[in-house]
Amino acid sequence: MQEEMTEYDFRQQMVAASLRLVELGLNRGAAGNLSLRHGENFLVTPSALPPEAMRPEDMVLMDFSGEVVTGERPSSEWRFHRDIFANRPEIGSVVHVHSPFATTLACLGREVPPFHYMIAAAGGTSIRCAPYALFGTQALSDHALAALHDRRACLLANHGMIAAGRDLDEAMGLAVEVESLCEQYWRALQIGEPNIISDSEMNEVMEKFRGYWRR
Ligand code: 13P
Repeated sequence: MQEEMTEYDFRQQMVAASLRLVELGLNRGAAGNLSLRHGENFLVTPSALPPEAMRPEDMVLMDFSGEVVTGERPSSEWRFHRDIFANRPEIGSVVHVHSPFATTLACLGREVPPFHYMIAAAGGTSIRCAPYALFGTQALSDHALAALHDRRACLLANHGMIAAGRDLDEAMGLAVEVESLCEQYWRALQIGEPNIISDSEMNEVMEKFRGYWRR
């Protein structure tokens, strides 16, 4: 089915997903951005444009050298979108949000430990928090890529969260899941110190997750 979709269809999907992130409360205003791998290139949302104002034509097609192929002003975060695609062949879509609970923990520079077994949905035994760097910089991209090692999601200190997946649905689903986990962790921290699942128990979860997810 995917192969029959045109570039315009993908652009429409990106606008719909950007609007959905606002509906879900994961982004507000022009915060956040998302991207889709597209052959040798990638499509990324435009910079500083709220989803309500986005049209499919506003999506920017870029190549891996960082040149704009079609479009005007790509997201200021095109570097981490590009670097994730370049270094992680299994990733087809990247979603970046400033969602409330993930960002709250990121502002404290806290990684999310395995307080809940669903932490494994992000690929490992924790969700790391990348150190702070100025938005849109190569330094931020380098930190993000390191925090995503063996993972599909990470927090960005004093900034927000990145979730990645094989396609847009998977990346969006993981962004929702990570925000839920951050909310649950934050709530648990209000009344005590959450119990942590051991590495061996988390390895059991990761083993059980293999083949569990529906495409
Ligand atoms: P852009 O509008 O340039 O994508 O920036 C929003 C953002 O979230 C920066 O991290």
